[in-house]
Amino acid sequence: MGAQWGDEGKGKVTDMLAERAHAVVRFQGGTNAGHTIVRNGETWTLRLMPSGILHPDKLCVIGNGVVIDPRVLTDELDELRRRGVDTRALRVSANAHLIMPYHMLLDHAGEAKLGKLAIGTTRSGIGPCYADKAARLGIRVQDLLDEKILKKKIVAAIDPKRLSLRPYARDPVLDLQSMTEQYLLYGHVLEPFIADTSRLVLERLDRDEVVVFEGAQGVLLDIDHGTYPFVTSSNPVAGSACIGAGVGPKDIDEVWGISKAYQTRVGSGPFPTELEGPLADAIRDTGGEYGTVTGRPRRVGWLDLVALRYAARLNSMTALAITKLDVLRGLDPIHVCTSYRGSEGAQFDHFPYHQTVLHHVAGEYEQLPGFDEELSGCRSEEELPAAARDYLRFIEEFVGVPIALVGVGPGREQVIWTEAGRGMAGSTAATPA
Ligand code: GDP
Ligand code: IMO
Ligand code: MG
Repeated sequence: MGAQWGDEGKGKVTDMLAERAHAVVRFQGGTNAGHTIVRNGETWTLRLMPSGILHPDKLCVIGNGVVIDPRVLTDELDELRRRGVDTRALRVSANAHLIMPYHMLLDHAGEAKLGKLAIGTTRSGIGPCYADKAARLGIRVQDLLDEKILKKKIVAAIDPKRLSLRPYARDPVLDLQSMTEQYLLYGHVLEPFIADTSRLVLERLDRDEVVVFEGAQGVLLDIDHGTYPFVTSSNPVAGSACIGAGVGPKDIDEVWGISKAYQTRVGSGPFPTELEGPLADAIRDTGGEYGTVTGRPRRVGWLDLVALRYAARLNSMTALAITKLDVLRGLDPIHVCTSYRGSEGAQFDHFPYHQTVLHHVAGEYEQLPGFDEELSGCRSEEELPAAARDYLRFIEEFVGVPIALVGVGPGREQVIWTEAGRGMAGSTAATPA
């Protein structure tokens, strides 16, 4: 799972862990996600497809908790096939909800209405789709297989939205007949992939096979535990894997939190360690911090250990993967946030529950020595400069979770397995580079 505000490198870590796993499962989020894998200099960006899809023999599951835009999914399937990827091992939950054209329009309209208070959503219809799911007005993947049901459900779903959709009344995407026909067409393409995915995953777990559950977004974007309302509309926390994939809490043995060596955020909302000016620009450029889906420049800041410890607690995190350590090269000293200072001087050692407080705190920092060496070629902890090793130790001790994996470049081989990581059960699911 993502341990920050998303884009921590979940795609890369999942692709690695998929190496010797038997299945990879997405369990929440939707087309708001953009997960990148870099292999042999080739870049793959996945929005709905589990990041195990480049391994042709792995079961890849889009679970019931994901919201699926069938246009994006069918495009993604086409694009992967065009690039020579065998996608036959994909399975899509019959219970997953579908993003409909009106969800996209409502996402746009909602943001426009909020004006300066906008959330900065990816405008992919995520919020309105999850809202319909909760209101029991959602359209599910299985509905694509029955024209009569599909049409009836679309009518029922649109009816309460008439007022909000009035500005789009003439938009051709809202035409009932063509929408139904378009979605039936998607159903036709997706039919071979539709399955009872919970059963498929449980069968593998029963055979003691390794299943990787791939989170999207991150803890601080969680609708319950994140910086509400500046969050997404699902639960990116680890517990949500059970609900969104249809397995039990005891089926999960390890929880890996992915965090960058610094902090980023796309969209609005509080960000206590945010940087601005030349330092922010430098980190953004070196780290390539521009949205995978939207191309938006990401906000950047120093690593926030108060938030990371909060993430560890909420997820029973058993291991950390720290990505993008290479990006900190040349920054001296490195700052790392260990508490917050409120506007009236109060110190916060824990993530404040009150939004107003969080909006006004500033990070309090430890300063640690930086390093000038290029890290992208390092493959063992011993090869890292002492300052980089000390930085990792500091994180590990503060958060109280061992670091299993360190990223030193975008390529899938650009990782360091720590001694702790090599000893973990999950590491048997991956091949040390
Ligand atoms: P995700 O949404 O969590 O899968 O992350 P994204 O793919 O949106 O963003 C992570 C970006 O960082 C991608 O461009 C990756 O290729 C890149 N990346 C991942 N790990 C590393 C790393 O260790 N070093 C560097 N320099 N880039 C990395
Ligand atoms: P991955 O899986 C980073 C952010 C949006 C916005 C908020 C709500 O690649 O880490 P939404 O479209 O979900 O209603 O937007 O959440 N957001 C992400 N930020 N990475 C993501 O996914 C994100 N998915 C949504 O920028 O602030
Ligand atoms: Mg991303």
